[in-house]
Amino acid sequence: MSWPRASTRSTAPPPSSLLGLVAREFMAQAAEVSFAGYRDSPDRFVLECFQWEEGEGPTIYQLDVLRRLPRERRLALRGPHSLGKTALAAWIVVWFALTREAMGVDWKAATTASVWRQLSLYLWPEIHKWTRRLKWDMIGRPPFREKQELLDLSLSLEHGEAFAVASDRADSIEGAHASHLLYVFDEAKAIPPATWDAAEGALASGDCYALAISTPGEPQGRFYEIHQRKPGYDDWSTRHVTLAECIAAGRVSPEWAEQRARQWGESSAVYQNRALGEFASSDEDGVIPLAWVEAANERWRALEGAGEWGDFTCVGVDVGRGGDATVLALRHGEAIRELRPYAVADTMAVTGHVAGILQAHGGEAVVDVIGVGAGVVDRLKEQGKAVRAFNASEHTDAKDRSGELGFVNKRSAAWWRLRELLDPANGHEIALPPDDLLTGDLTAPHWRDMSAGKIAVEGKEEIRKRLGRSTDSGDAVVQAFWEEAAPSYPPFRIARITRSAIMPGEDPRRAEERRKRREKIRRKVRERRAKRVTIGGREYIFR
Ligand SMILES: Nc1ncnc2c1ncn2[C@@H]1O[C@H](COP(=O)(O)OP(=O)(O)O)[C@@H](O)[C@H]1O
Ligand SMILES: [Mg+2]
Repeated sequence: MSWPRASTRSTAPPPSSLLGLVAREFMAQAAEVSFAGYRDSPDRFVLECFQWEEGEGPTIYQLDVLRRLPRERRLALRGPHSLGKTALAAWIVVWFALTREAMGVDWKAATTASVWRQLSLYLWPEIHKWTRRLKWDMIGRPPFREKQELLDLSLSLEHGEAFAVASDRADSIEGAHASHLLYVFDEAKAIPPATWDAAEGALASGDCYALAISTPGEPQGRFYEIHQRKPGYDDWSTRHVTLAECIAAGRVSPEWAEQRARQWGESSAVYQNRALGEFASSDEDGVIPLAWVEAANERWRALEGAGEWGDFTCVGVDVGRGGDATVLALRHGEAIRELRPYAVADTMAVTGHVAGILQAHGGEAVVDVIGVGAGVVDRLKEQGKAVRAFNASEHTDAKDRSGELGFVNKRSAAWWRLRELLDPANGHEIALPPDDLLTGDLTAPHWRDMSAGKIAVEGKEEIRKRLGRSTDSGDAVVQAFWEEAAPSYPPFRIARITRSAIMPGEDPRRAEERRKRREKIRRKVRERRAKRVTIGGREYIFR
């Protein structure tokens, strides 16, 4: 044990007598001896070295992970949202840093996550939160010195450091050499394979540990393969924390789970991922995959963090029918900054809300004109407001991005437009608020390819029958992005649709699957059409 004595003394009052000096020295030594026992017992460390309020403490599954990590060394944990994964990771970083520091050995703890914000807004603040609850007398050293030892995104002690590293910096992960190593992968589902590989080499020997934690996503990527126990990753052990465990531990309320089952549908990918902690693919027939919505949520969080909202452009208005809510989607530039739900569907009240927004911000309203909405459009026009009527069942000449597929009605065209704006292959930067209802709405509708080369997106009534609710927030957002003419996409040749852009952190095989799906659509187009077509003065050759 090698705590610098000088600094221990610096925080305690000087002993007033020889007896005091001896007693203090004795206590410091006792703390050191007992603290050494935590080296392989993160569970005891967490129970005994943090201050816990009455009735508080780690949950059974958190303790289970803490017990297993020293033995199993590589542990991947998946489970529902808010089960306490990031807290667990923070405890492990603090345990590792303090025990290895106390051993006087050379150590490093690299923390990474699929998005930087996860480190800067969640994991590192969580590390700070728990270091404030450390019982320093148990540890036998003075508290971390803020700004010198403990910084926003790092902890630098005499023998080693813990730090944050971006998940696309495999080189920094690989370069983390020390005989005692800890890797933490938070929100691990989208960490690129190269980063995992970089850590793998270092984990082969020594006092090395890896903890990967995440709510699951699509069944793809390294985090998924580890949970699948794919050959080659058998050094990892896995733990699935179930919804029942989270409810029993009081970390998730049964009401939350019930409400989400109703809102999302128990078979939806979003319920499987976030409530059950299971991998699930977005519905093959779904218009918008969950992963695209999550990427748009990340962009929203980044805008919110930076406070950089563009100018207000329009408000999409889905007027409630038959007891549904009315939802207003306020769009700034390429982002829906805010959703405003109202329990009313009365012409005057809705007109009042929309007019108020247009009065304050300018811009225009895109109002669903069926039913009560017709009155809203009329009243807004009377007041001289900029308003566009959106009639979902109306005919449209709009085409999809390829210029080849049409739509059975305007609703289908508008939902497809949003799909294309969210598709990472198209390079748009649409941002959407992380709102559970909106996520459920956007991932709910199915689509079919009708025989006449037209795409049909499931109707509002069909969805209501299937899900028992209507997709009001989704429709308001779809309308906010609806423009009669296709947005000014960069000109492209048909061959370019097949190029598979890889999303950050995406498995190349997944991109390949996407490419194949596109290819299928193209094939359908090809079956019906000539080899060469001219669109907008450019000739496209189908190969
Ligand atoms: N066992 C626990 N006791 C007290 N607070 C906890 C415990 N586990 C987690 N928390 C707190 O609950 C909140 C959510 O936990 P977090 O770890 O962020 O969940 P997740 O990462 O699974 O979404 C955080 O504020 C965290 O500090
Ligand atoms: Mg977390």
